Amino acid sequence: MLFGVTTSLLAYACLATAVTTFTVPHLAGQDDTPALLEAMKDLSSDSTILFESGITYNIFTPIQFPELTNVEIRIEGNLTYPTDIPTIQKIVGAAGFPGSWITFTGGTNVTLQGSLDPHWGWIDGHGQAWWDAQNQINRPHGIAFSHINNGVIRNMKIWKVSSHPSR
Ligand SMILES: *[C@@H]1O[C@H](CO)[C@@H](O)[C@H](O)[C@H]1NC(C)=O
Ligand SMILES: *[C@@H]1O[C@H](CO)[C@@H](O)[C@H](O)[C@H]1NC(C)=O
Repeated sequence: MLFGVTTSLLAYACLATAVTTFTVPHLAGQDDTPALLEAMKDLSSDSTILFESGITYNIFTPIQFPELTNVEIRIEGNLTYPTDIPTIQKIVGAAGFPGSWITFTGGTNVTLQGSLDPHWGWIDGHGQAWWDAQNQINRPHGIAFSHINNGVIRNMKIWKVSSHPSR
């Protein structure tokens, strides 16, 4: 009996540090941000967040991650912002906009990892239209990766940003 209790305590200790891999869901034509943010409530520590290869995710509204501990974000699929400028301007200009389209609030041991695949793992900011229009009003910053101890950014690829990423 005592032996059984000890074993299950050990098993529990192992489970507690296991890394959960969460594959971000995608729905055609829909904004994929809300489902990710909902799931993040339970994934802010010891997890891998995977944007999987073969999928173009619609990041139609900004992503603001909660504080993260021991988390790896892997961008292996493509991520696309809204294509039309007024939609973005309205969001960026609104109260409560986190400052960047993708914002890391902070944390410890956080890795933002892209992909070496030339066809996938791109974040497409659709910036060409902004450059063409010479439009700088409420243009979004791409990614803010800040307030993180032991943060790593690796192999990230950004296509046609409308402004430089901030750190
Ligand atoms: C950092 O996080 C990763 C998961 O992304 C984990 O495997 C690793 O053990 C963590 N490192 C430390 C020092 O906790
Ligand atoms: C992923 O995005 C990049 C940059 O926009 C693009 O060149 C590439 O064709 C996209 N990949 C697929 C498979 O659509």
